Amino acid sequence: MTQILDNISLQPFNSFGIHALAKHFCKVTSLNEMQELLEWNKTNNHPLLVLGGGSNVLFTKDYDGLVLQNALKGIELVNEDNEYYFVKAMAGENWHQFVSHCVQQQYQGIENMSLIPGNIGASPMQNIGAYGVEIKDVFESLEAIQISDGSIVSFDNKACGFGYRESVFKHQLRNQFIILSVVVRLRKTPIFNISYGNIEQELMNMNVKQLTIQSIADAVIRIRQRKLPDPTKIGNAGSFFKNPIIPTVLYDELKKAYASIPGFAVQNGSHTKVPAAWLIEQTGWKGFRAGDAGCYPLQPLVLVNYGHATGLEIFNLSTQIIEKVKIEFGIELEREVNIY
Ligand code: EPU
Repeated sequence: MTQILDNISLQPFNSFGIHALAKHFCKVTSLNEMQELLEWNKTNNHPLLVLGGGSNVLFTKDYDGLVLQNALKGIELVNEDNEYYFVKAMAGENWHQFVSHCVQQQYQGIENMSLIPGNIGASPMQNIGAYGVEIKDVFESLEAIQISDGSIVSFDNKACGFGYRESVFKHQLRNQFIILSVVVRLRKTPIFNISYGNIEQELMNMNVKQLTIQSIADAVIRIRQRKLPDPTKIGNAGSFFKNPIIPTVLYDELKKAYASIPGFAVQNGSHTKVPAAWLIEQTGWKGFRAGDAGCYPLQPLVLVNYGHATGLEIFNLSTQIIEKVKIEFGIELEREVNIY
């Protein structure tokens, strides 16, 4: 039986660097261990929290249950046809290392998602995305273990119910499955995607003459490193809020009062996605700091822990931001980070 530790600090296991205790903690490195642990917990009945890279959680208190660190490892080319490579990665692999591996092997399709923190297992949970690409665009299938009976279930793209930072695993199937592995479908002949934001500009600054997936990955890494805090230096969980999607009629009204409000049409134009960063900046939070909890000066969508902030301090700051944005714009920001 794999070792279960008691009263373990979760500080090294969450990118916010928040100190909270797990009543029980277990690192799982094989399917066998996972099944054993779930079996053990059937009789012990502790609330279960599965941690991947810990890059999308905020602990506001100790966790009075069992924290399972999913550390299954392995990357494998499982299939290929004329057009695609099918690459499988186990849940405990680091996302960025997986992307770098694929870029090196000339497997194309996820280079725009370079440097996203976290592990493979969490990537379909919230349909991670950046610079015009989401995992749903390349997702083939995943395998997950059903917590209630230990059975292994396959999900195809449709079964995952992907949306903007959404999947069935956050809703209908919440807390019912643990993701074991993900298979992505990557192109042999690249279709480059450089239309988002300032990728093209960055490639020009880099003096890139011949476009490759490596050069796109490098451009994305340079942009991210410039404006997003490195979680090994300043605690954070990437975007703390989602970009709100509002009816376009409402957006048009706001535009009359705030001429510079940015918006991107979605859902065939019926709705508009408004950058939360803009709303947060307009309400004066950009660069705000109280104690060690702050709103990052270079990207206000990211809340940060400058050292010794508590999870509650960061949570309270997020509540204040939500309230002020609501009063000013009538838009209710939604947290992207999971709160415990
Ligand atoms: N903006 C401001 N002020 C700022 C920064 C941005 O007003 O200080 C506005 C600008 O209008 C800008 C717009 O926000 O054009 C969009 O900014 P950006 O391209 O940086 O992206 P984002 O919408 O803020 C999203 C993702 C990021 C992802 C970037 C790039 C969400 C919640 N966040 O941020 O994902 O890296 O696009 O694709 O969708 C994450 O999820 O953890 C994450 C970092």
